[in-house]
Amino acid sequence: MYFIGIDTSTTATKALLMNESGRVLGVASNEYPYEIPQPLWSEQDPALWWLATGQSIRQVVAQTGVDATLIRGIGLTGQMHGLVLLNEKGEVLRPSILWNDQRTSLQCDAIRARLGRERLIQITGNDALTGFTAPKILWVQENEPEIWKRVRHILLPKDYVRYKLTGEFAIDRADGAGTILFDLAKRDWSPEVLAALDIPAEYLPKTYEGTDATGALLPSVANDLGLPAGIPVFGGGGDQAASAVGTGAVRAGVVSLSLGTSGVVFATTDAPVIEPDGRLHAFCHSVPGKWHLMGVMLSAAGSLRWHRDTFAPGMDYDTLLKPAAAIPPGSDGLFFLPYLSGERTPHPDPLARAAFVGLTVRHEFPHLTRAVLEGVSFGLRDSFELMKSAGLANITQVRVTGGGARSPLWRQILADVFGAEIVTVNTTEGAAYGAALLAATGAGVFDSVESACDATIQIIGATRPGKDQAIYEKLYPLYRDLYPALTPTFHA
Ligand code: XUL
Repeated sequence: MYFIGIDTSTTATKALLMNESGRVLGVASNEYPYEIPQPLWSEQDPALWWLATGQSIRQVVAQTGVDATLIRGIGLTGQMHGLVLLNEKGEVLRPSILWNDQRTSLQCDAIRARLGRERLIQITGNDALTGFTAPKILWVQENEPEIWKRVRHILLPKDYVRYKLTGEFAIDRADGAGTILFDLAKRDWSPEVLAALDIPAEYLPKTYEGTDATGALLPSVANDLGLPAGIPVFGGGGDQAASAVGTGAVRAGVVSLSLGTSGVVFATTDAPVIEPDGRLHAFCHSVPGKWHLMGVMLSAAGSLRWHRDTFAPGMDYDTLLKPAAAIPPGSDGLFFLPYLSGERTPHPDPLARAAFVGLTVRHEFPHLTRAVLEGVSFGLRDSFELMKSAGLANITQVRVTGGGARSPLWRQILADVFGAEIVTVNTTEGAAYGAALLAATGAGVFDSVESACDATIQIIGATRPGKDQAIYEKLYPLYRDLYPALTPTFHA
């Protein structure tokens, strides 16, 4: 038996094929661009996702040479929060407005005003942020009323792919919660929020757990893709929740830390836990009946890439990082603030800016490199601290993934800054792998998502806090003081 996980990300659609033991047999990926039609906007044509889905599925099946009649299920994941609007015939009405679009500050204010900020956080677990889906819907209501009049279905990116695969309008609960139209505790659409925002409930898809079957592959699509007709397409999850499954962060106490372009600190909870001020995202997990808290830093490994591309273009990361290991902790008094693209957690501020603070004539290039690693680590600790203050006291393990996790120096700095053991796992395919595990669990191969993870994901390395922990403990409050001190300048 085989299972396919499909990840509809912002830059590519990836199809991963694994066997029933969870061994990855192949991955195929097809890239596409996104558009920036105006400053702060970010849009993508849903047709690109569907085209790349077909290409990637055909390629992964051909490349692995498996008998396609033994494929028993598909799990979906993808970029969260994007808005897809369809008319009554299921046709796309405008390009999708993506998670990284920042045009909706006014609509976020309007949502807070209509529901009351406290009530909004109480129901949905979250404050209104420009990245989320609900303010994008209000923007279309206000700015494109002719389009809004024709809307009959609201979907998220991966659920558009689901609609094309199965003809069903359905969404998993992790992505559902990321719209902030959800009652977090009830794991379903909130009639109160929908009424306050003038969004008809019948426009929204039916909600499912990550392991539920949401529909079956349409015969015409199956024929076209060379797959068996009628195989189930399972709920899956938004990319962050699915990625947590793909790294085995499915139990309370285990935190996952993803060091991609953005940095995500993710903690599973057995009940809905809310950071009272809405500074952490609180969403449903793709593990049935579980929730999660999440902090999102917009430029994590992206800061290191910017640093390399700007000051040492073409240098490989090993050459870049080696001399930084010889610099003392704290980079001889140099700090880096990592807000190159504004920030989400803990400062929801599109106007936040990056900075090197404390430069002297003694500082050389490797100091700047180390300061970038340290600044990103301090910024991620902010989310870790918010989680502790929201009541997650027993954080026993931090599982680090993503490109940045490959650096032993960065892993040591993280262990020292967090004061926690940092471990690495054997899986590298993140969200697409999580989606395939959710499908295999839904098909009955595993009893639960937790046992699927236990059977497939192993810890392969551990980094413990060392002698520098005490130094970083003293430096962290200084780092914390920099954003409030510089905010008036950033905003001016
Ligand atoms: C999560 C988020 C991003 C997108 C990117 O809240 O906005 O991680 O899901 O794919």
